Amino acid sequence: MPKLRVGVLASGRGSNLQAIIDNIESRKLDAEVGVVICDKHTAFALERAKNHNILGVFVNPKEFSGKEEYEKAVVECLKENRVELVVLAGYMRIVREPLLEAFPNRIMNIHPALLPSFPGAHGQRDAVDYGVRFSGCTVHFVDGGMDTGPIIVQAVVPVMQGDDEDTLAARILKEEHKIYSQAIQLYVEGRLTVEGRRVRISS
Ligand code: GRF
Repeated sequence: MPKLRVGVLASGRGSNLQAIIDNIESRKLDAEVGVVICDKHTAFALERAKNHNILGVFVNPKEFSGKEEYEKAVVECLKENRVELVVLAGYMRIVREPLLEAFPNRIMNIHPALLPSFPGAHGQRDAVDYGVRFSGCTVHFVDGGMDTGPIIVQAVVPVMQGDDEDTLAARILKEEHKIYSQAIQLYVEGRLTVEGRRVRISS
């Protein structure tokens, strides 16, 4: 059976990409990474791809007349590499029409908070500042909003006395590395159905 081809979009460190690669290599995840696309040439995610003989592509946003044009080039690259599912892993851009139209309900994102609480770029800091006792991470399908799409899986971690943004982020990240692959595996197995805001997981 041909494996589901995943395209990963990343802007930085790429530890979630690494966890996905590791889970594929240890056969916990039955997929393959067809391409890693970065909007920053310094993204360590590109190094990680290279280390595993995965195609890494830097698409330079500055080479395009606007954000839509840039994103059309990303879509083209994903299509050229026969990607079926797009996985955002620390991709620091809002997804727009070209991607949403090319991959409807086929784009996932991971967010370091229990959505719908604390969307945006500082999920861990916002949770600490608010004083919640629990936070966590969320894998969701991407729609046109900021961290608003239908939720696939979540994991919960406690917020300890004395936590700061970094200690909480480290605790959450361990869970991110597990649940992203779990969500992708559910997709691979054809077990996810989007019904309005809800995602049904069939057994
Ligand atoms: C993660 O915390 C993820 O939840 C958020 O951005 C961070 C990316 O980390 N969207 P990495 O690049 O995967 O290490």
